[in-house]
Amino acid sequence: MKQRKILVTSALPYANGGIHLGHLMEAIQTDIWVRFQRLRGHDCVYVCADDAHGTAIMLSAENQGISPEQLIDNVNAEHQRDFKDFLIQFDNFYSTHSSENKQLSESIYAALKANGHINRRSIKQLFDPEKGLFLADRYITGSCPKCKTTDQYGDNCEACGSTYSPAELIDPKSSISGATPIEKDSEHFFFDLPAFTDMLKAWTRSGTLQDSVANKLSEWLDDELQQWDISRDAPYFGFEIPDAPGKYFYVWVDAPIGYMASFKNLCEHSEYEFDDYWQSGQDTELYHFIGKDIINFHTLFWPAMLTSAGYRTPSAVYVHGFLTVDGTKMSKSRGTFINARTYLDHLNPEYLRYYLAAKLSSGIDDLDLNLEDFAQRVNSDLVGKVVNIASRCAGFISKGFDGFLAEKPDNPTLLEELQKANENIALLYDQREYGKAIRIIMALADLANQYINDKQPWVIAQTDKQSLELQNVCSTGINAFRLLICYLKPVLPTMAASAEEFLRVKPLQWQDSENILLSHKINKFFPLMTRVEMDKVQAMVNATQIDFEKHNSTTTKPAKNTSGLEPEIEFDDFAKIDLRVAKIANAELVDGADKLLKLSLDLGTDKNGDALSRTVFSGIKSAYKPEDLIGMHTVVVANLKPRKMKFGVSEGMILAAGPGGEEIWLLEAHNGAKAGMRIT
Ligand code: 2FM
Ligand code: ZN
Repeated sequence: MKQRKILVTSALPYANGGIHLGHLMEAIQTDIWVRFQRLRGHDCVYVCADDAHGTAIMLSAENQGISPEQLIDNVNAEHQRDFKDFLIQFDNFYSTHSSENKQLSESIYAALKANGHINRRSIKQLFDPEKGLFLADRYITGSCPKCKTTDQYGDNCEACGSTYSPAELIDPKSSISGATPIEKDSEHFFFDLPAFTDMLKAWTRSGTLQDSVANKLSEWLDDELQQWDISRDAPYFGFEIPDAPGKYFYVWVDAPIGYMASFKNLCEHSEYEFDDYWQSGQDTELYHFIGKDIINFHTLFWPAMLTSAGYRTPSAVYVHGFLTVDGTKMSKSRGTFINARTYLDHLNPEYLRYYLAAKLSSGIDDLDLNLEDFAQRVNSDLVGKVVNIASRCAGFISKGFDGFLAEKPDNPTLLEELQKANENIALLYDQREYGKAIRIIMALADLANQYINDKQPWVIAQTDKQSLELQNVCSTGINAFRLLICYLKPVLPTMAASAEEFLRVKPLQWQDSENILLSHKINKFFPLMTRVEMDKVQAMVNATQIDFEKHNSTTTKPAKNTSGLEPEIEFDDFAKIDLRVAKIANAELVDGADKLLKLSLDLGTDKNGDALSRTVFSGIKSAYKPEDLIGMHTVVVANLKPRKMKFGVSEGMILAAGPGGEEIWLLEAHNGAKAGMRIT
């Protein structure tokens, strides 16, 4: 087989937040593909980087009181650790804030300009006079011009669905400073995307995209393409445009160039040659794995820019859907917005790799991580089927035959059946139809288990622990196990490594499935994978929710418990909670906070007769107007350790219930309740 030379990327995560399960789904999808290609003997390079530029990162650094450079360095280290611990095997993980990227961005821009594909014109935009900053749509809130719903973002109304320009919002406010924005002119630079209409029509239909993606794009391509605004005004964290002081490349210009830059950086300390992968007319392949929210950047702007600048275009862009958890969008308050690290604190990364693989396809449908199904699936497939084969056979081989496998298997037909599936499974991996591949692999595992059930080696062993038949049967089982591991290796690299140790073999390659192990000494069996425990899954959900509470409001919905109930607590734990009736003496909005109200609570008096009060930040703004709360009674946890939040210290928690949004109900103590009464 001819060795392919392949360069693969997955989307660059923003450098202002942690890696979560959504990122991981993409990284795992990509990594499985890359590992598969490598096992097939191809030269497959996988690069990624942090997407380090833009207003959000600048503001986030400012909020933390550090420089953007410091922020992106910290985050980069964290991202690398997270990906590594999920066994994502990058050849390079870099940053878009790099000298290579700066130089490439500048030279590509120079080429676009020289080719007449850059033009300039002045545009009107909303500007925050307090911050001295032009405001992207998402930083402006106001009331919808149509239905008058308050607190709507930039350009569309969540309540009535109408779209508008941010300048049309009623009473618009900058969500950064709270100031009323003004309209201001500024010169912007545009990339002449319409000049590439014909090129893009051909490229998007040349087998580079999934049909569903190409169809979506036709809708855009049949309409007129627009000039693409590629500049942003200072202050901005990014690369300044050459010869244009105070103008910066929009983050989406240098982000995909970051793929090239990461590879270029790899070339500096390896044998790879940059031009082999980026000049046109080479026999190398280039693939981008991305989510469906960023299709336009990768299949319109990016190939057009590459073409203008004289580089090759991607061989294909592979688009996937979103990850949902327990049927809905990942939600911080439900505890399902799960960070990589929180997952790793509780669960084995290979559980997730396996579960996602079992559900992934080449399509763009969303994929649901159902936590109960997750545990059940991993346990029944990996522990119950695959590992079970080895654990049922290995002991007899160790005890009766000094670890030696037989000279010939008892059932060569079974093994041939497993071997025959090789090419079909390979094709499915190559086509990113991992779910289908896993189904076949598990059907083969069922066959092997059925065979062992039929032969009952434990019964044979009762009469003769050293009979040839026992050795032949168990050797058939062990060989079936080895073939299954070979097929699962792209998904489960660590488990495969343990299996290789148990089998005493060199790292398996795909081709090794063509032969079987005979007259070979194996090691003593050790457990290769343990079961997923539901209480660990629950602990992960709880930890996610606690994280959320720490960073946000003092009132949240309870974590959805995957077993239906919260874990039990001791009565003593409950008795530690000092619940009291409090009178809301004052309630006010909190500058810059979307969800919080600041409450001053009157809790009556303490033992010495001194007035007891508490300041509590509570996430109930969506449900109550501050003025309506004053004078109401509520129940408060009076002895909660004070917590420092972004907007001040919160000294307790008020109790509320409800699904959220406008439906959060304060449990108003009934008439006659007096502030300070203990609830018993
Ligand atoms: O959507 C995102 O998270 C972007 N940071 C992805 C960038 S991918 C590439 F173009 F850099
Ligand atoms: Zn509206």
